[in-house]
Amino acid sequence: MAAKPDRDTQAGLRWLIEIGADEAIDKVPRDRLAASPAAAIGHRSNPPPPVAPAGLRPIGPGAESQSDLITDARARAAACETLADLARAVGEFDRCALKLTAKNTVFADGNPAAGLMLIGEAPGAEEDRKGIPFVGRAGQLLDRMLAAIGRDRTGAYITNMLFWRPPGNRNPTAEEIALCAPFVERHVVLVRPKVLVFVGAIAAKTLLDRSEGISRLRGRWFDYTAAGHDAPFQATAIFHPAYLLRRPGQKRETWRDLLAIKARLETDCSDP
Ligand code: URA
Repeated sequence: MAAKPDRDTQAGLRWLIEIGADEAIDKVPRDRLAASPAAAIGHRSNPPPPVAPAGLRPIGPGAESQSDLITDARARAAACETLADLARAVGEFDRCALKLTAKNTVFADGNPAAGLMLIGEAPGAEEDRKGIPFVGRAGQLLDRMLAAIGRDRTGAYITNMLFWRPPGNRNPTAEEIALCAPFVERHVVLVRPKVLVFVGAIAAKTLLDRSEGISRLRGRWFDYTAAGHDAPFQATAIFHPAYLLRRPGQKRETWRDLLAIKARLETDCSDP
């Protein structure tokens, strides 16, 4: 039987979990304090870039600012003509610090031709392990919500605002969200959904550029305008299924929202 770790080791482990270092990245432990900085930023599917990414902060003279990083993300996203281009561009994008701790890039799941596109927040542990969005408990509830309006993942296309799991499921920072947003915006333009659904506050507030909370944004319809596309998309917001797991009383409101989404999907586009 393995010996019980002493009190200091237990305290150290607790601290690591609290700061979000709760996932094994390698098969064997590595002393990263002893390793060179270059070795410490390796990513499973992406070799370290030539310049150590600054996370999102400039480090010293000549380092890129957050706005340089966003400009770069915008240019990369705008150059994508197809979803395959975009998936590749996101997979190759090494400027978001979240990628350093994530196991996988989580791009999207479902059918881009379905007419219904949902945008959540960020992958969790299960999504990070599988590289597929919404496959954990919240994802299973989302599947049941879709089933309630007669859809499954062949009848919906699902992605997130962030393509990498924030360590320990912490909230993504404003900088991380802003850095991924150009890819998300391009994602919408390439999918061209009939109905766009923001799942939770982060997607709704960011893409609609609104400051209200999700309780005020849900149940309403908005014109979402994306760079590179003239006509606005019909968009609405719903409570995040992770929130509904904690507050099942709100499912009633969500049922109404889902019925409104179903009705919009069934509306003939040529209707006035
Ligand atoms: N929550 C999200 O917002 N997205 C996922 O993919 C999983 C959980």
